[in-house]
This record gives sequence, C-alpha cells and structure tokens, in this order.
Amino acid sequence: MTRAAPSCLTRAAFYNQVALVYDQVYSLSRDYTLCQAAWLARTCNKGPLLDLGCGTGRMWDALRKLNIGMLTGLDCAGSMLKLAKKSHSKARLVQGDAAQGLPFKDGSFETVISLHSTLIHVTCWDDLGRMSGEVFRVLKPGGIFVAELPHPACFEENPDWQEAKEGMYYRSVEDGLTELKIDTPVSLKTRVRIIQLSELSKFFKKFPILEVHPGFKGGMFDPDKGDLMVVCARK
Ligand SMILES: C[S@@+](CC[C@H](N)C(=O)[O-])C[C@H]1O[C@@H](n2cnc3c(N)ncnc32)[C@H](O)[C@@H]1O
Repeated sequence: MTRAAPSCLTRAAFYNQVALVYDQVYSLSRDYTLCQAAWLARTCNKGPLLDLGCGTGRMWDALRKLNIGMLTGLDCAGSMLKLAKKSHSKARLVQGDAAQGLPFKDGSFETVISLHSTLIHVTCWDDLGRMSGEVFRVLKPGGIFVAELPHPACFEENPDWQEAKEGMYYRSVEDGLTELKIDTPVSLKTRVRIIQLSELSKFFKKFPILEVHPGFKGGMFDPDKGDLMVVCARK
C-alpha cells in the first residue's frame, strides 16, 4: 500500500502533531540551552520576559537559575503548551497566535525572545508586520527582542527536496516560501518563510537599533555563510 503524500499543515496543527516527539527529536541540547541562557542574561535587562513560541518551555529552568525575571510563555499549539505545563506547573502560559496580536498590556516586558526559528512559521508579511509591531508595543522602552532565525544561506532556492538534517527536508515553493517536511513518526509538512538579510529591516521596522549575531557563542556575523542569525532589536 502506498502512503498518501501529506498535505500542508498550519503552524498550530503541525506542532500539535510534532509535540509528542519534539523534546526527543527536535529540541536543542542542554549545553546549547545553557549557552543561550547565559548570553541572554548578559545581554538583556533583568525583568519580565516573554518567550514567544515557547514550545515545551525548554529555556525556562536555565533562565530561572539566572534570575532573569518573571517568565511568560505564549504558544499557538495546545499540545506543546500541555507539555510545558507538565514540566513547569507554576509558569504563566498563554495559548495564542502571535501573528494575531499579543494579549498583554503596553510595556509589560523587558525582553521578548523567540528562539529555535519560531518566527519562520509566520509566512505572510502582513502577519509578520503586525507581530513585530505587537512585540514593540509590549516591550518597555529600552527593552530587547531576541529572535533566533536560520541563516538564509542554509536554505538553497531549489524546487526539489533537499535534506536539511536527518529526517527533515525542504524545497522552495511559490511566493518566496519554503516547504518543510519531517519524516518521524509520520510524514508532516508545513510552509515557512526564511527571512533574508535584506528583509530584516522591513520586519523590525519600528525598532531603532538592530544587531545581527552569528549565534550565541560570539564572533562576527558573516552574511554569506553560517547556521544562524540572531537578531537583537532594541526599543
Ligand atoms: C521550533 S519550536 C521552538 C520552541 C521553543 N521556542 C524552543 O526554542 O525550543 C516553535 C514553536 O513556536 C510555536 N509557534 C510558531 N508560530 C507561532 C505563532 N505565530 N504564535 C505562537 N506560537 C507560535 C510553535 O507552536 C512551536 O511550539
């Protein structure tokens, strides 16, 4: 029997299905998590922090140990949040889609983080613009938005499936979008937008200060190669 080709899922539906294997297969290592948390503690002001697209709450033990401030997590996928709740029963967790707006008052946070390529799941420019404006609104003056995105050089424009890493494939589709396919435990597909360097100022347009880093381990950003771009936008 041949297996039917998977259809494209929305971000919430995709992560509701990925949730069961996320921590085992797609999450990032403990060492890398500690390195990200230490970098955030050095770079951000202490105070309330919003983890936008928090998933299973991977960062929170490390952030708590560094006493960064009160943590709030927002995610659109109920199944990811359920797992976050299981490991962090006292955390403030909110279900919602950041592309539709953020359910927080103006100036609520010192820091907003969106790590492990969360933002690529918002594919429409209007939604990206709204989301960026909302992050700006909920930050305090001087607050910082840290977004970890894939380096665009990692995604070659090609209509044929390419392997990104074991069990994960991508191909270019119409409208500047990329289709992602993962193969465990069942085949799942979703569409993402790989933000190009030249598009950063369009996305972060309200933020007066923008820096791009090659990751959390230090060094100079190379626009032509690398795995990551970590964008720090200050209000
Ligand atoms: C790759 S996971 C990253 C999880 C976590 N940030 C980490 O670093 O481990 C992306 C998460 O972002 C969530 N997500 C994607 N787009 C979102 C949006 N527009 N609003 C809220 N959550 C979103 C997904 O449901 C998923 O849990």
